[in-house]
Amino acid sequence: MAVAATSPSLGPFSPVRSPTKRRILQSRMAVRSTGTIVTPILIDLQKSCATPLPVLRHVADAMTDDMRAGLVCDGGSDLKMILSYVNSLPTGNENGLVYALDLGGTNFRVIRVQLGGKDERVVDTEFDQVAIPQELMYRTSEELFDFIASGLAKFAEKESGKFSLSPGRKREIGFTFSFPVKQTSIDSGILIKWTKGFAVSGTPGNCVVACLNEAMERQGLDMRVSALVNDTVATLAGARYWDDDVMVAVILGTGTNACYVERTDVIPKMHGHTSSGNTIINTEWGAFSNGLPLTEFDRDMDAASINPGEQIFEKTISGMYLGEIVRRVLLKMAEVDALFGGFVPEKLSTPFALMTPDVCSMQQDITSDLGVVGSILNNIFEVKSSIRARKTVVEVCDTIVKRGGRLAGAGIVGILQKMEQDSEGLIFGKRTVVAMDGGLYEHYPQYRKYLQDAVTELLGSDISKNVIIDHSKDGSGIGAALLAASNSKYA
Ligand code: GLC
Repeated sequence: MAVAATSPSLGPFSPVRSPTKRRILQSRMAVRSTGTIVTPILIDLQKSCATPLPVLRHVADAMTDDMRAGLVCDGGSDLKMILSYVNSLPTGNENGLVYALDLGGTNFRVIRVQLGGKDERVVDTEFDQVAIPQELMYRTSEELFDFIASGLAKFAEKESGKFSLSPGRKREIGFTFSFPVKQTSIDSGILIKWTKGFAVSGTPGNCVVACLNEAMERQGLDMRVSALVNDTVATLAGARYWDDDVMVAVILGTGTNACYVERTDVIPKMHGHTSSGNTIINTEWGAFSNGLPLTEFDRDMDAASINPGEQIFEKTISGMYLGEIVRRVLLKMAEVDALFGGFVPEKLSTPFALMTPDVCSMQQDITSDLGVVGSILNNIFEVKSSIRARKTVVEVCDTIVKRGGRLAGAGIVGILQKMEQDSEGLIFGKRTVVAMDGGLYEHYPQYRKYLQDAVTELLGSDISKNVIIDHSKDGSGIGAALLAASNSKYA
């Protein structure tokens, strides 16, 4: 990396006070030919976030090993490798009126789907999306589930006799619940713990379907959950409905996770086999931690989180955390390297003040003075910035996003190579589709590119041509509805 040895001009902002301090700072910094101020912090950051091929390979192999260990017994590795009880995927024959309820982050969605079987497929869908008030993420289970059930009741009311049901038959719901759940059957499961910043009391250790049923009863709502699924599983089902080659589903949004089609005869912890010989495994890969290139900023963020030591992969690659890592780097650069000319804006110390969509917008700025970056920094942190400081900020964003995207790619290869090892040629020797959903993947072009680059580097161009990463937008809603239909009590 070429570093020009010129001393930086920090622009007309709050000057560094003493001449000695200024001299020390100037000796610590240089300016790249691109105009970025290079500081020891930036150099260290780029070194510790680097993901050359050997690092990617190590991560992919460790993912494969952890998957195997997690399939032997519960607690066998960081990866929970949860049995989903989804043993067959949609065929296209699914029929009837079903609902899907999706709870996984800051919103919940309710969807009504009219399925028309092989010929008509999805006849009609309607949906509603409701933001979950922030405070409900920290209150009681009853309060959260009452809120959801009342949203569902309002939506169900709008059906207003459009569809009739045979007497004694209840409306059925596919419930997508995007947190780690130990499934006890296709329609029941116990919340192991909350992730993604949720800290609702009273749910962990309890069946989430029972929580929803009780809340529906309190609302006087007569519906039943016929399938409880993770969002990855719902995405896989939704994508498989249209494409038989879908074998893996990945979510890259607020949180991250992956599921895949596994052979039941290679799952030691599963007793008995399914008629299809396959089942879907929810890996909960957000908890993966083996061999990740981490920095002091990741460790500090983890230590300050509500779940220290947990969800390390998620904290390194997913949308909830990328902005926060960048903020922590910028704070240190402002304090130690006078990134903003010696002025350390107070708001730079506010946790989660910088969100991943802001990081993304800054990276899309193509104006010559990086005006968008300047106004985002000003709006969020109330700081004026020189062009050089803005360039440095973009380079920090890129470093964190590049690491995230490439590690996500390595994770995908880890899953694919596990599947390939157990079924030679059936994954890499033919078209294999990875269904992908989540806002981070959808809205962040650089992240997407870094992810794809890592997959191609790891697999080589011949094999990677067969691996199609396909954006399956909102496939999880239809997916959950399809699984509700195929697991209907009345079918
Ligand atoms: C978190 C949850 C996981 C979910 C993922 C994506 O990692 O633990 O269940 O699939 O976020 O929403």
